[in-house]
Amino acid sequence: MATAAISCSLPAYAQRIPCRLVRAPAPARLIGAWQRQRLYSSRAWPGSFACDAAPALDEHGHIPSAPYDAEPLTGTLPHTDAHLVLHPAQYSRPPTTWPSHVESSCALLSELASRTREHGSLAGFRVNLSSGDAALAEPPSGAWDPSRSTAMRMPPNHAQEDEMFWLYAYTTSGRYVRWPEPISLRTLPSGTELRTQLQAMWSRAHDTLESHIYVCTHGMRDCRCGVAGTAVYDALQRAVTNHTAQCAQDGAKPARTIRVFPISHVGGHKWAACALVYPHGDWYGNLRVSDVPLLLRTALAPSSSRHDLDDLRERLVVWPRWRGRLGMSQSEQRDHRDVWGPPIVHTAHITPARRSRSHSRSPTPSPPAAVDTRTTVPLRFHAHDGTWYNVDGHIGESLMEVAKRHNLPSIEATCGGELECATCHAYLCDASDGSDPATRGDINCAPSWSAAAVSDEEDDMLEYAPFRKASSRLTCQVRVSQALSDWMQRGGRIELDRF
Ligand code: FES
Repeated sequence: MATAAISCSLPAYAQRIPCRLVRAPAPARLIGAWQRQRLYSSRAWPGSFACDAAPALDEHGHIPSAPYDAEPLTGTLPHTDAHLVLHPAQYSRPPTTWPSHVESSCALLSELASRTREHGSLAGFRVNLSSGDAALAEPPSGAWDPSRSTAMRMPPNHAQEDEMFWLYAYTTSGRYVRWPEPISLRTLPSGTELRTQLQAMWSRAHDTLESHIYVCTHGMRDCRCGVAGTAVYDALQRAVTNHTAQCAQDGAKPARTIRVFPISHVGGHKWAACALVYPHGDWYGNLRVSDVPLLLRTALAPSSSRHDLDDLRERLVVWPRWRGRLGMSQSEQRDHRDVWGPPIVHTAHITPARRSRSHSRSPTPSPPAAVDTRTTVPLRFHAHDGTWYNVDGHIGESLMEVAKRHNLPSIEATCGGELECATCHAYLCDASDGSDPATRGDINCAPSWSAAAVSDEEDDMLEYAPFRKASSRLTCQVRVSQALSDWMQRGGRIELDRF
């Protein structure tokens, strides 16, 4: 079968996958047995190894926006009591060096994995490898061979048995612990002692304001995780950096410190990209780069549930991408989503008497007016980097639709205007007093132009928007009108958020 040299047109994330040879992009389709065969047989190429990224890309060489597999997502996390994650403490072990079965090269991981089997001392636990800040590049035992295709452990080897790892242990309490010092296979507590000590540590653990997001980027196990996972991982890294910068600029302390890590195969390649948010314990799948703001927001939420009207943890779960949660059986995960997830309004179902529609601050949004494509009015959007976008809007279309039609930044609109995502958030505000046009508008005040009132549904969803202010609106709920355009001619504007 013909192969092509690595394609310059492949996106950057695909080029970072350890591919020596990449076939021309294939049409989007589910990975089948023959594709799997092709993926794995491609390792026969000489050199380090080859990985075929094509099954993860559509006919244009992009990650498809639709899931790789249409099966329902919720309830796909097998019951797990706790998750142990090893972070290399000595030698850099980047994901590009992970073979398909990491336990075949990492003696400590192999030992822990064998203890998690049924009747083992860690039964009910799960164990994975991540990367860390370890800086030593050249282990005495040599670099791992990513093309190693056997799941069998290597013969005993002193260097491997002494290699040190940090052990992070997550459980269902919304707290996590780190083993006090790096451990190796040689210093690993034996038998049930490890479990006993971990349980004692969990019982003494305190809440921390730190969240960890693990993204499966294990390209040698499955190219969909390698391609889609790496894209989400990169976007998350950028989003965390931007969030930190935004907080510094606003003089605000981030609600939580967020760290993003790659992780080895967690199961469910067909739902790539998969991410785990800890210590919350929530697993997500079918993620795309456009979901990153939502994922970041859920990681900023408190890590334990209060199960009351103000339970931010449950309200910020990204339900359309939710696979399940540590400690829940698969049927419990489905039940939990039925109770807490959409389409039930996020609060009304808890104590309906306390939040009846008769107390609504404003009526349910009226159905959208017909769009008059013959009448256009000028509108002004101001991006976070200071760029002005002067565009035309059709009377009756939503500001979100205008933004998408003109490809404006920051308006993701993941739910397509269904009021389920808040990724169309922007500020409708007046210019700051006497400011020059390049300065941001007065986002802390409601605009002088009275747009249609914020409905209860929009108000609920706005709580999901990062950095909600008095001028915050969901642009999918604001319709273009002559009055809106006139207000903009007098200095009004739509300030686009950084995210
Ligand atoms: S597009 Fe999702 S809430 Fe507006």
